[in-house]
Amino acid sequence: MLAERVSERVGAEVWLKLEGANPTGSFKDRGMTCAVSAAVREGAEAVICASTGNTAASAAAYAARAGLRGAVIVPEGKIATGKLAQALMHGARVIALRGNFDAALALVRELAQRHPIALVNSVNPFRLEGQKTAAFELVDELGALDALSIPVGNAGNITAYWKGFQETGARPRMLGWQAAGAAPLVHGAPVERPETVASAIRIGNPARWEEAMGAMAASHGAIRAVSDAEILDAYRFLAAHEGVFCEPASAAGVAGLLKHGAEDSRRIACVLTGHGLKDPQTALTRAGSVLPCEPELPAVEHAVLG
Ligand code: F0G
Repeated sequence: MLAERVSERVGAEVWLKLEGANPTGSFKDRGMTCAVSAAVREGAEAVICASTGNTAASAAAYAARAGLRGAVIVPEGKIATGKLAQALMHGARVIALRGNFDAALALVRELAQRHPIALVNSVNPFRLEGQKTAAFELVDELGALDALSIPVGNAGNITAYWKGFQETGARPRMLGWQAAGAAPLVHGAPVERPETVASAIRIGNPARWEEAMGAMAASHGAIRAVSDAEILDAYRFLAAHEGVFCEPASAAGVAGLLKHGAEDSRRIACVLTGHGLKDPQTALTRAGSVLPCEPELPAVEHAVLG
């Protein structure tokens, strides 16, 4: 959808790609349906992933659908409530690791080598094959784009978009955004203790590091950092002025555009990777408060009009 208010502020035509409208509320479904189908074909009995939340929700859903067991390893206390509810509802075994996402990913990689369990993180090539379809959709619907603005965590999605664009001959500048407290690609070195309000991209050592840097270089793009305050400003701006509620990590791409402007691009697509309902707690602590009211007309009048 065209984001008129964001466009005004950025000084370019900015389009939003709403990935929160996928079945489990994030872009992960595009790749997960492929990865789980491949796991079934290969005769796997179970799937496993490390996750900051959305991959876990998606893996759990597609595993349930396929009749496979699912196990997800998440950083304890660091995933949004909605995502946890999804993984549990879909019947996955949810393991809360006393460690961060990077530690969880290293562990599941080893586990998948030792047991007949399919690893469905974006190190799995089928994930990228599915996720690249988002780039096809953008090319179909918008034609030529000057830039794609996208949040970066484990760097699978930016890699998948670039693959998809290349397959169609499109070459938008790839603008990747990391949270300032979790910006290894910006610093050029892993971050041992990543921290950010955008829990989905709280990642210190992305698996698709080389590919993301390659996409940036080949497209004459950039990978830069935005602060938590900038992410939250964009998060609120989208909700209040575009009527679009995304999760905090998803707002990083818009935050980057609001901060740096259009920089010669005339037409930009911004990927809103996950739905705002995934993370009600952040919304409730960062938005206005509710007004208590007695059930009487004057009190209601005062509350509504006052
Ligand atoms: N936005 C959201 C909402 C995410 O959940 C993620 C990644 C990203 C952006 C970044 O995408 O990792 O391909 O660079 N979430 C993963 C997860 C890590 O476990 O759900 P990426």
